[in-house]
Amino acid sequence: MKLDHIGLATRQLDEGLALWRDALGLEVDATEEISEQGVRVAMLAIGDTHVELLEPLSPESPVGKFLSKRGPGIHHVAVAVEDIHASLADLKRRGARLIDETPRLGARGCLVAFIHPSATNGVLLELVQHQ
Ligand code: CO
Repeated sequence: MKLDHIGLATRQLDEGLALWRDALGLEVDATEEISEQGVRVAMLAIGDTHVELLEPLSPESPVGKFLSKRGPGIHHVAVAVEDIHASLADLKRRGARLIDETPRLGARGCLVAFIHPSATNGVLLELVQHQ
């Protein structure tokens, strides 16, 4: 298991890119819009993991609500797993509250699922299975 990426909520991608790309010199791997999740995403490689900048497509989207409640900052931590269905079943058996009972399509064509912060000591956790 490894840390796949850290998701950072930004009001606009450019605000995040000003730091991570322009000031720190990281390269943008990909920018894409994931309409089902209401976000525009920029992925920047840092070592063998990534920073994922998240810009909400609307104030009602999950990241939009996060920003209005908490402001910009760390939104979630994502770990890469081999078998996301098995990991979800395991977490559920242990009583974790799942946001996604079944995986959905995320950035970079990965399967992703979110675990509720109430099950993870306050940190929104994303599982990622690369295809
Ligand atoms: Co993510």
